[in-house]
Amino acid sequence: MSREQWRSQSGFLLAAVGSAIGLGNIWRFSYLAYEHGGGAFLLPYLIALVTAGGPLLVLEYAIGHERVGSAPLAYSKIHPRWEWLGWWAVTFVMFGIVLYYTAIMSWCLNYFILSIDLGWGKDPNAYFFSGFLEVSDSPNQIGGVRGKILAGIAVAWFASWIIVYRGVQGGIERANKVMMPLLLVLTLILVAWSASLEGATVGLRAYLTPDFSQLSDPKVWIDAYSQIFFTLSLGFGIMIAYASYLPERSDITGHAVLTAGINSGYSLLAGCAVFSVLGFMAYNQGKDLSDVVTQSIGLAFVAYPTAIGLMPAGPVFGAVFFLCLFVAGLSSVISIIEAFVSAAVDKFGCSRRYLVSAVTALGFLGSIVFSTRAGLLWLDIVDHFVTHYALVVVGILECVVVGWLFSISSLRHHVNRVSTFRLARGWDWLIRLFVPGVLAVILVGDLVRELQRPYGRYSWAALIWIGWGWLLLTLLLAFTIASRPWRTNHRALGGRSSPEATDAG
Ligand code: PFF
Repeated sequence: MSREQWRSQSGFLLAAVGSAIGLGNIWRFSYLAYEHGGGAFLLPYLIALVTAGGPLLVLEYAIGHERVGSAPLAYSKIHPRWEWLGWWAVTFVMFGIVLYYTAIMSWCLNYFILSIDLGWGKDPNAYFFSGFLEVSDSPNQIGGVRGKILAGIAVAWFASWIIVYRGVQGGIERANKVMMPLLLVLTLILVAWSASLEGATVGLRAYLTPDFSQLSDPKVWIDAYSQIFFTLSLGFGIMIAYASYLPERSDITGHAVLTAGINSGYSLLAGCAVFSVLGFMAYNQGKDLSDVVTQSIGLAFVAYPTAIGLMPAGPVFGAVFFLCLFVAGLSSVISIIEAFVSAAVDKFGCSRRYLVSAVTALGFLGSIVFSTRAGLLWLDIVDHFVTHYALVVVGILECVVVGWLFSISSLRHHVNRVSTFRLARGWDWLIRLFVPGVLAVILVGDLVRELQRPYGRYSWAALIWIGWGWLLLTLLLAFTIASRPWRTNHRALGGRSSPEATDAG
């Protein structure tokens, strides 16, 4: 069975950008920037982009393209013992990140509807936590399912199912060709609109002025590096799968620069809209910029609704904003469903359509817990553990496996053979030493902090069961699937340039 391919190079680029641009660019990036004082975050963010994000994106594209496979297949062609790493990546994203990600998409859909008549009332903070989510006191108190949230989650999964079911060209490529331009236009409207609000310049100044004193705080660096991972969908197995659908002659380095550039450019743009609105709020309420948001996670769902209530034609602004978030999220969710399905098709050769339906149904079931009253608390814990540990560990191992167990120079030669601009030899060392080194320091720093004081003041029991438990469960699943025999002969086919490059030592 021949491998599906993108219809065009631009189709691939749009799909990769679609995966990268997501809730992370608007919701996560803005709250991290706000938490770290705006401009103080931009510098570490850009440094992380250049030193780790770009080089790793090239690496993931190169692995997928040269080894011609989804993450588990590509890793197993590098070294059979490392197949589990690919499975772990796609599993903890598919059955970890996306389960709560679709819950946030559901909040967006609900808020899209609420915007019409400012349904959050006079106190958006109280509405969000007590009226809408009805957050329980602890993660053990699951409480009941919130019907509206569950309905939104169902819509998110259903929309994703429809798109991925139609295949790489007819579904994903075509949907992104509509969604990405739409997102850009909507975002530009938001940026122009918010920049015209009174007080916007105060917010923009805080956002764009670097504060060098913050750079000594390790937390800023940890957040910057983990945000780069999250935003570029690195360590998710997605970019590997997407690159495996590229034809032989494809500009790997060019695609990586464009994907990373457009994605971060989009984040910076969205940040302008967010900070202009915060400036407007500070001006309106006579507060300091640092006092307008109390809980950073609620920035999009508390601060924004407050601002929308204050601005002229606010309901329209609100609807556009929440629609943007939903569309951005959708183009990311479809990418992980594809990455997981492509991995299972590569290994077991079963029907793609059957798998898409089964995986989406399972995903929906898994999301239900995030629609309960403890949903926000579970989301916070799972997000923390997956993004701070699983992603970072996959990133380190990815560099070690490719950098030390594989002939990284032959991978570089492959990239240089097909790309327009060449990778220098320094890239080998970035992948072999620098990136895993930085990630290891971050990991150790995080672990030490974790052990000193429980994350988010949750009980140790909740953190162990939900956080560590989630990681272990997905790891176990990954090992189990990896231990099953291959039902296809893809693995025997090797890579595009040199099948014998494996185990070069
Ligand atoms: N790059 C996405 C973002 O920044 O929001 C992260 C993502 C999440 C990608 C979930 C894919 C996914 F399924």
